[in-house]
Amino acid sequence: MEIRKVGVVGCGLMGSGIAQAAATAGFDTVVREVSQELLDKGRSAIDRSLAKFVEKGELSPEQKAQALGRLLPTLQLEDLANCDLVIEAVIENLAQKRELFTELDRIVKPHAVFASNTSSLSITELMTATQRAPRFLGLHFFNPVPLMKLVEVVKTVVTDPEVVQTGLDFARRLGKTPILTTDRAGFIVNRLLVPYLLDAIRALEEGFGTIEDIDQGMKLGCNHPMGPFTLMDFVGVDTTYSIAEILFQEYREKRFAPPPLLKRMVLAGMFGRKSGKGFYDYSDPKNPKVNKLLEGRG
Ligand SMILES: NC(=O)c1ccc[n+]([C@@H]2O[C@H](COP(=O)([O-])OP(=O)(O)OC[C@H]3O[C@@H](n4cnc5c(N)ncnc54)[C@H](O)[C@@H]3O)[C@@H](O)[C@H]2O)c1
Repeated sequence: MEIRKVGVVGCGLMGSGIAQAAATAGFDTVVREVSQELLDKGRSAIDRSLAKFVEKGELSPEQKAQALGRLLPTLQLEDLANCDLVIEAVIENLAQKRELFTELDRIVKPHAVFASNTSSLSITELMTATQRAPRFLGLHFFNPVPLMKLVEVVKTVVTDPEVVQTGLDFARRLGKTPILTTDRAGFIVNRLLVPYLLDAIRALEEGFGTIEDIDQGMKLGCNHPMGPFTLMDFVGVDTTYSIAEILFQEYREKRFAPPPLLKRMVLAGMFGRKSGKGFYDYSDPKNPKVNKLLEGRG
């Protein structure tokens, strides 16, 4: 199936990245937000990100202008009516996403494919809010979308094989590498990554080493670009906690259970980089120091 026009719902961190990738790849891209302020914010994020590609010589100024020209920012859901593919990237809330999909199902023409970028909700549960189950799948992008190469293409038990192929082809058209997975909590990457992150917290709680030494261990011993605590601060300590809860509810296995320290940090507002404090303290963002409140563990 040929995709000409793409709709993206939500122009936050992920939606703006997906809209940028689609527009840069040559698709007319309608992107919808709930307020003019958020729409402007998302559009300037896209502008800034494209400008960095121009600075690096990876895009010409003309290609940047063309990409921006293919973007249609809107507040009206009705503007998505003629899209061939609609990708939802609104906040991680089941009820809100279901409500949105029911509305989209009414507005967007029946042949269009619907996709969700959810990290942890069930694609099947979102799909049942529409009348187009065979034309529904997950397209799970990674942050920051313009730079990260991976897309997890998630099929449910009823996704039409032609629609799966459309998802794989679309990801490749964006210059990404798709991998195919089924609708289980965590898909492939978080299913493997989250237990590792939680285990790092348990290792800290059990006194295997300090935050810095555990991070160094995984960086220098396994060649990871960053250690688990630095990574959790990037992802968000709160986001890590909610994904762990969802995985635990699905599998009921200890390795997915959030350790006590993780929950306490969320309650105390230590969300990582975004709140200025997580496992590290970002008072000086270019030179993070271990969060003193957590010192003495390990
Ligand atoms: N942040 C990540 O690293 C990451 C990675 C992969 C997937 N995801 C998933 O992507 C989705 C979005 O996450 P995010 O980090 O971009 O969140 P975000 O909060 O940055 O952006 C969400 C945006 O959606 C908007 N929105 C809410 N309801 C809307 C509606 N009805 N119509 C249009 N816009 C609406 C909000 O105003 C907000 O700007 C979530 O499902 C999340 O699980 C996030």
